[in-house]
Amino acid sequence: MYDEIPNIIKLRSSVRRYKPTPVSMDKILTVLDAARLAPSWENDQPVRYVVVNDPEILQEISAVETVTSVNSWIKSAPCVIVGISDSHKSGVKEGLPYHLVDFGASMENLMLAAVSLGLGTCWIGLFNEERVKSILSIPKDLRVISLTPLGYPDYHKTLDADESYSKKVSRRVELNAFAFFNKWENPV
Ligand SMILES: Cc1cc2nc3c(=O)[nH]c(=O)nc-3n(C[C@H](O)[C@H](O)[C@H](O)COP(=O)(O)O)c2cc1C
Repeated sequence: MYDEIPNIIKLRSSVRRYKPTPVSMDKILTVLDAARLAPSWENDQPVRYVVVNDPEILQEISAVETVTSVNSWIKSAPCVIVGISDSHKSGVKEGLPYHLVDFGASMENLMLAAVSLGLGTCWIGLFNEERVKSILSIPKDLRVISLTPLGYPDYHKTLDADESYSKKVSRRVELNAFAFFNKWENPV
């Protein structure tokens, strides 16, 4: 099973077009469980999610400013998962707020689990946080870090014919500028 993970990582790319097909509760719970099992600073677990699959609330979320302009395509998704973090939990090391690190680990788990189920996601960072909090009754002292649609991509993706993967690789820094052996001057 673990040898599937590199392929799942390669298959993940941001999906911005969805089929209207609903996502089953089983699959929603599977991706949430993957997110829940992520590591966090001292196991503080600052991350929470709200799943939006009620059509009226989905409509309200997709009408939020900045979601409407840059991220208007979110309307096509049958489900949106809203990622929340508690900045009062987790550590701060030399000014680094680790709740955000914990959040990133959890979101990546969620996105990769989605790929394994044939589902797409796209991390959305541009949205009006106050509006999202108000629509979903999220407590004021929590931060909404991301939204992601969750749904079936409306194009066919396979590893073999995966143009998106080669495109992705071409847009990433080369491995020898990315990682080093032993000392900074020794590229892999
Ligand atoms: C913190 C963060 C914020 C992002 N915000 C947005 C966003 O608001 N809208 C969007 O379409 N994509 C957004 N993205 C997706 C990135 O554009 C995308 O991950 C990047 O271009 C790499 O492409 P890939 O995900 O297909 O590999 C965001 C990604 C991250 C990690």
